[in-house]
Amino acid sequence: MEPAVASDCEDMAGGMIAAKRYRAARRLLMGQEVLTRNGHALLGRAYLGMKDYEPALHHLGVAAEMDPDDLETLIHLARACTASGRPHTAIRMLERVTATRPDHAEACEALAGAYRRDARYADAIQLVKAAEAAEVRTGQLLYEEAMCLHALGEAAGALVVWDKLLDLDGGLAAGWFQSHAAALQVVSLDEALRRLRRAAECHGANGKYWAFLAAYAIFVGDEEEAAAIAAGPLAARPHHSALIDGVRALLPHLSADFRLFGCSGHLLRHAVAAAGQAGLVLEFGVRRGTSTTHIAEAAGQPVHGFDSFEGLPEGWGSQPQGSFTTELELPPVPANVTLHAGWFEDTLAPFLAGHPGPVRFVNIDCDIYSSARTVLTGLADRLRPGSILVFDEYIGNQTWHEHEYKAFQEFVAEHGTRYEYFAACPFTRQVAVRIL
Ligand SMILES: C[S@@+](CC[C@H](N)C(=O)[O-])C[C@H]1O[C@@H](n2cnc3c(N)ncnc32)[C@H](O)[C@@H]1O
Repeated sequence: MEPAVASDCEDMAGGMIAAKRYRAARRLLMGQEVLTRNGHALLGRAYLGMKDYEPALHHLGVAAEMDPDDLETLIHLARACTASGRPHTAIRMLERVTATRPDHAEACEALAGAYRRDARYADAIQLVKAAEAAEVRTGQLLYEEAMCLHALGEAAGALVVWDKLLDLDGGLAAGWFQSHAAALQVVSLDEALRRLRRAAECHGANGKYWAFLAAYAIFVGDEEEAAAIAAGPLAARPHHSALIDGVRALLPHLSADFRLFGCSGHLLRHAVAAAGQAGLVLEFGVRRGTSTTHIAEAAGQPVHGFDSFEGLPEGWGSQPQGSFTTELELPPVPANVTLHAGWFEDTLAPFLAGHPGPVRFVNIDCDIYSSARTVLTGLADRLRPGSILVFDEYIGNQTWHEHEYKAFQEFVAEHGTRYEYFAACPFTRQVAVRIL
């Protein structure tokens, strides 16, 4: 039966949203001739649940404008900003709330998530500690803390927090999945696989967990297991095969000393240590300086970091142009790092003119084809046998073969370069390459 008055309709829509029936809630609310403030707020939340961010921002924005004191709507609006790649806007909104309400659990959760999306991992961890001091402890805050510790390279600390969270909620598929990477780094591959299997067995598990299980099986040569997963749980989920295809593309070039990693910072430090040839240490894609710090600490020499600090110059998959911007703010970095702000197209050639010699190590973390191509073309005559390259986002995402992978494959074909992969981190889609 159709509810006759707005408040009945809104009550029903609220119930549907609580039950995650977002499409049904949207249909119901769209049937209303005129939306009240609460109707806009609910419709915005329904769109947010459907991951349809532009209408979510519109309706939540209208509701927030009609009543700026409605904290719940403001928090949903901030979440929509974060999810749609605008974490800075969310941070500005939420910091105002937590400044006066440090004990507001939902505001703290949303702000920690926005800091994480903005790669401000230390700020997120500090916020979780402050919330704990105000006696606010939630599973979501533990989740954010573990994610941020892992992103900073603190795999052991992250694993401790994951296990606290999994003690509270043993059915949390995402917790088992995320923790497998920390376990791979600091415990063993077997422990990582155990956690992945737990993730895959959880109610509503994501098909990508099976793709990870198959990918690790391929790396260790267990083709029987990989085939069983492909013919079984992955058969109905072909869109999860990107990671498997990427791993297969690496196989012909695996080195004898190849190692699997679960954490970006650990892979970077290993790759820098493997770079024995004297020369330049470079990074393309600095953002907030997370990877830069690992490289600088491991390198023991000057490091040069290049970034526009304006984000991606073009869209990349579902990430719009400008994603990962720091709004031109340069991050704090160790004393041996020099930052070169600007587009690679403008900064690389003048830098090379003033810095002769080969490349010892380069981290290419700029995601898109054109940027990776600019870097590789610019460095072509500086890469020598023994030079080490790390690529982030090399394999595993849906468009992996169109970006950094494609740029490197074109480069090796054009220059007749021989190379091998001596490390990979499927979780962060990184590979480390040695030029032969
Ligand atoms: C994923 S982020 C780098 C993340 C960083 N390595 C870390 O550890 O967090 C990619 C960065 O590449 C930069 N970028 C991409 N293409 C660029 C180009 N052509 N010129 C300058 N910067 C670029 C973006 O500004 C962005 O900060």
